[in-house]
Amino acid sequence: IDPKQIRNFSIIAHIDHGKSTLADRFLEMTGLVSDREKKAQMLDDMDLERERGITIKARSVTLDYKAQDGQIYQFNLIDTPGHVDFSYEVSRSLAACEGAILVVDAAQGVEAQTLANVYLAIENDLQLLPVLNKIDLPSAQPDVILEQIEHVIGLETDDACLISAKTGQGVDEVLEAVIRVIPPPEGKSESPLQALIFDAWFDSYRGLIILVRVFEGRMARKDKVRFMATGSEYDIDEVGIFTPKMAKVDSLEAGQVGYVIATIKTLDEARVGDTITHVKNSCESPLAGFKETKPMVFSGLYPTEAADYASLREALDKLQINDSSFVFEPETSVALGFGFRCGFLGLLHMEIIQERLEREFNLDLVTTAPGVAYRVTTKSGETMMIESPSKLPGAGDIEVFEEPYILGTILTNSEFVGGVLKLCEERRGIQKKLEYVSEDRILIEYELPLNEVVLDFYDKLKSVSRGYSSFDYHVEGYWASNLVKLDILVNGDLVDALSLIVHRDKAQSRATLLTAKMKELIPRQMFDIAIQAAMGARIVARTTVKALRKNVLAKCYGGDISRKRKLLEKQKAGKKRMKAVGNVQIPQDAFLAMLKVD
Ligand code: GTP
Repeated sequence: IDPKQIRNFSIIAHIDHGKSTLADRFLEMTGLVSDREKKAQMLDDMDLERERGITIKARSVTLDYKAQDGQIYQFNLIDTPGHVDFSYEVSRSLAACEGAILVVDAAQGVEAQTLANVYLAIENDLQLLPVLNKIDLPSAQPDVILEQIEHVIGLETDDACLISAKTGQGVDEVLEAVIRVIPPPEGKSESPLQALIFDAWFDSYRGLIILVRVFEGRMARKDKVRFMATGSEYDIDEVGIFTPKMAKVDSLEAGQVGYVIATIKTLDEARVGDTITHVKNSCESPLAGFKETKPMVFSGLYPTEAADYASLREALDKLQINDSSFVFEPETSVALGFGFRCGFLGLLHMEIIQERLEREFNLDLVTTAPGVAYRVTTKSGETMMIESPSKLPGAGDIEVFEEPYILGTILTNSEFVGGVLKLCEERRGIQKKLEYVSEDRILIEYELPLNEVVLDFYDKLKSVSRGYSSFDYHVEGYWASNLVKLDILVNGDLVDALSLIVHRDKAQSRATLLTAKMKELIPRQMFDIAIQAAMGARIVARTTVKALRKNVLAKCYGGDISRKRKLLEKQKAGKKRMKAVGNVQIPQDAFLAMLKVD
């Protein structure tokens, strides 16, 4: 195929602006999917994705499109997730493209992830094609939103398409505009091979599947290739394209996107961002790779039943095979026993992994409140990353204590600005920008400690703005802060899993709120339970869960055995998701109490 007939592009959008719906229309209109095969949202093939209505893993599909000029074009549509946690996947998908369709909801307008995605596209030198979607909605205001795109993003809208991905109106125009606006790839099939790995995953039938964009040269079955970063060499077993099913082809040529299968054992050998070249006649230098993703949010995962530890480890291993951004290592907690410290890209990523563990692997877990990685330099000059408060050196040994800061972008309606600013100030934010993007929409930028964001910032933002806000962020760096460790003691026993790191100015109020909340969450037992919060050796807050007066069995007067058994069973069921600390039963909720205060 002549590279002039190829277009490689992604669709980028804020969540729910209609990216998947538009992709589905493309698939239908290019005749690849028969009605029988049609399932809503074909590119999202994980059940969980469909249920949550979000796209977790990037996918690609090759479409043959017969244009109005009579020629057949090969479109490689690379699907990207829209959520802030997965911006790494967005950026690596974009690296395989020459352009992107920017979908903006004609009723909602530019949102935080619209901006974040546009910046990623611009960093990758992509040509953008603006598309206003949902013009069928009565609340659509195409003119206002076009103006917003020009003003906020600085993008010309002469080529913009006005469409409804739902009804199909205007979608054919988008396909034509793709040919006109997005440039064809430039490489030559005769050059030495240079192919970028932009995704890889494990398939239970086919083994490791690698998604590549061939920039120069061609690759075919039986070729001997080298992965430039790892230096390992393989024979290619198969190359092909997604239609969206896997379809073998003879070769992948310069400009094309497709998959490669070789006998590769682990995801580690096929690193995303690496360049594939031939062993003979290799290219001179690798393509620019990607920045490695670092997990930013950490939490402890423990099996409710100690016997499930091995199954939990197995499940974590399995999940990691398809998600290299998720990391874990064994951790022992005095309170919770054996478990794992897990690192995630963000809160949504964490929720998804936890949910998959419970759903797909049938595990009952106790999770601890999320925290971030701190950077500590000790008096002896050693610098270390602290991913768990329990690993923190004693206060006397710390020379510099730093925490990660983000730059957060918020778009909201003007009537909610007061509430949003108050929230950001409460979370130790520093305002960087506040500007109108249209008559009643405002763009706000704040520098915020990530620690204050991982604890329910997004939920609070939604509630102060009744859902009319969007939020996105990127990490700016580590800054020194006045931080302290707060410990929780239950009947005198330190519950390490509940320790947290907070700003000194907030320590007292957090301690009071937290102990009060724990009092609500821990059920009364046969004895008094003292809940204390401590900074070092100093107790700064205290509450007591009063003992139950009566024995539950006392009601049964010894008579009715079956009733007695029922009661005991009921109690047992209630204990699921409880962890015994000393002789106190602590429910899962209490381990997340920090998320539930204020
Ligand atoms: P993520 O995959 O979560 O990032 O979302 P998305 O951008 O892919 O959005 P999706 O295609 O799932 O659409 C979100 C919602 O908007 C769905 O309920 C669609 O049915 C609806 N929708 C999409 N396009 C249109 C449209 O043109 N008009 C109307 N009225 N609704 C639409």
